[in-house]
Amino acid sequence: MQDVFDLVIFGGGGDLSRRKLLPALFSGFVAGRVSKDSRIFLTSRKGLEGSTEPWLKDVFKETPPACDMDAKSLKDFAGMVHVVELGLVEGGADWEALKGALAADDENRPLVHFLAIPPSLFTSTCELLGAYGLNNDRARVVLEKPLGHDLATAQAINADVGRFFKESQTFRIDHYLGKEAVQNLLALRFSNILFEELWSGRTIDHIQITIAENQGLQGRKGFYEGTGAMRDMVQNHLLQLLCLVAMEPPARLEADSIREEKLKVLKSLKPLEGAEIDRNVVRGQYQAGAMFGEAVKGYADDLELDSPSNTETFVALKAHIENWRWAGVPFYLRTGKRLPDRFAEIVIQFKQIPHSPHPGWGTNINPNRFIIRMQPEDHLALRMMVKNHSSADEKLKEVEMNLDVAGDDALRIGPYLRLILDAVRGDQSLFVHRDEVEHAWRWVDRIIGHWETSSEPPESYQAGTWGPYEAHDLMTRDRREWFHETSGKRSGK
Ligand code: BG6
Repeated sequence: MQDVFDLVIFGGGGDLSRRKLLPALFSGFVAGRVSKDSRIFLTSRKGLEGSTEPWLKDVFKETPPACDMDAKSLKDFAGMVHVVELGLVEGGADWEALKGALAADDENRPLVHFLAIPPSLFTSTCELLGAYGLNNDRARVVLEKPLGHDLATAQAINADVGRFFKESQTFRIDHYLGKEAVQNLLALRFSNILFEELWSGRTIDHIQITIAENQGLQGRKGFYEGTGAMRDMVQNHLLQLLCLVAMEPPARLEADSIREEKLKVLKSLKPLEGAEIDRNVVRGQYQAGAMFGEAVKGYADDLELDSPSNTETFVALKAHIENWRWAGVPFYLRTGKRLPDRFAEIVIQFKQIPHSPHPGWGTNINPNRFIIRMQPEDHLALRMMVKNHSSADEKLKEVEMNLDVAGDDALRIGPYLRLILDAVRGDQSLFVHRDEVEHAWRWVDRIIGHWETSSEPPESYQAGTWGPYEAHDLMTRDRREWFHETSGKRSGK
């Protein structure tokens, strides 16, 4: 199906637009998912010197799209892209011009405003969209994270945006929800009796959710200092993944039902306080180390800071969901920069069997694990024990059953394109409701508040290692291990 729409990317020349949105839109165009009759407007304070085509070529040189790039496709795509000079604080002739350009004969043609700008500009931009009638019935607004810095700022943003756009027009994006494996998690959970019947504390021992990055700050230094991994990754991506794993089956696979169930999970998260935070939440900051055989700087040197910083680049924590299904099941969440590998993975670890007639029980029978890998490639796998044909001594061995969910490459689309097309169609299932954002902040604010009142700096870890020792200890004192430590390698490798 080809979608025809008008898309305005506010902050069109910025990092998100260049690295994620434009490559995704170009791939969608080449794959025939985005019609050539669509129009893409990129707003920028300074406009563009020269024409769009060579500029786009440079953008795609920095971040190559997932598809082949031939001269004709690039030329045709460039014909759809219009760079407009626009201030986001005051109206004027530039806004009149944008309004004129966006006038469409077809009243049903969707108009999507993607705010790829700092949240401090959300209010003035929405006010201007309202003042120029660009919040009309065919319009939707997409808000990129971070949605605020804490609960109070998130509430203010939600209230300000809400003055100009209804909740049904507001699309808060979390690109992790657009990842293929996450879609598959929902499909598997809610279309197979096998999984759902086992999905509770009766059979599950614990759940690990990891988003590991080997990159450092990638030119986002100004943003990162004072933000940190808790606000950048845990408040949104990790808690959203936790919601999808833990939520009850929604009545229908539609926005309201899904979002209600996710919200119930956030409301059931056990709040952590005082000493519980010190015990169950580890924060770290990378120091100088080596990555892939090359020396890399520590965080403070990366940022050229004059004094030490308390911003965390690593978080590992243990959370509990206080409801019938998950009572007593720990959820271990972990994310960090400058770790040895880049992957995002959910590991559902089942309980150990209560008894085995096979010799070696307790030493070489591993518990079953269901692994959902979102990154770098999509992968679903079930690890189980089978008879070992190749060794007379070892009767059993662990094998990995890979579920082939990759499908036809040509039909697959990346998370940002999927979510933009959902916004075009008005489908909010994979977007975050304002109540979810606010509840997630409430939980995270308690932890950040505790850190701010204590004078303890983050634990140190060497770049290129798996975070501070305390993250390892968080598991071992519960007689558990992070999955990569147990297996020596990630699933599927
Ligand atoms: C963004 C964070 O939301 O997600 C970044 O702001 C992080 O700090 C990125 O690097 C990770 O996304 P992905 O899809 O590359 O894992």
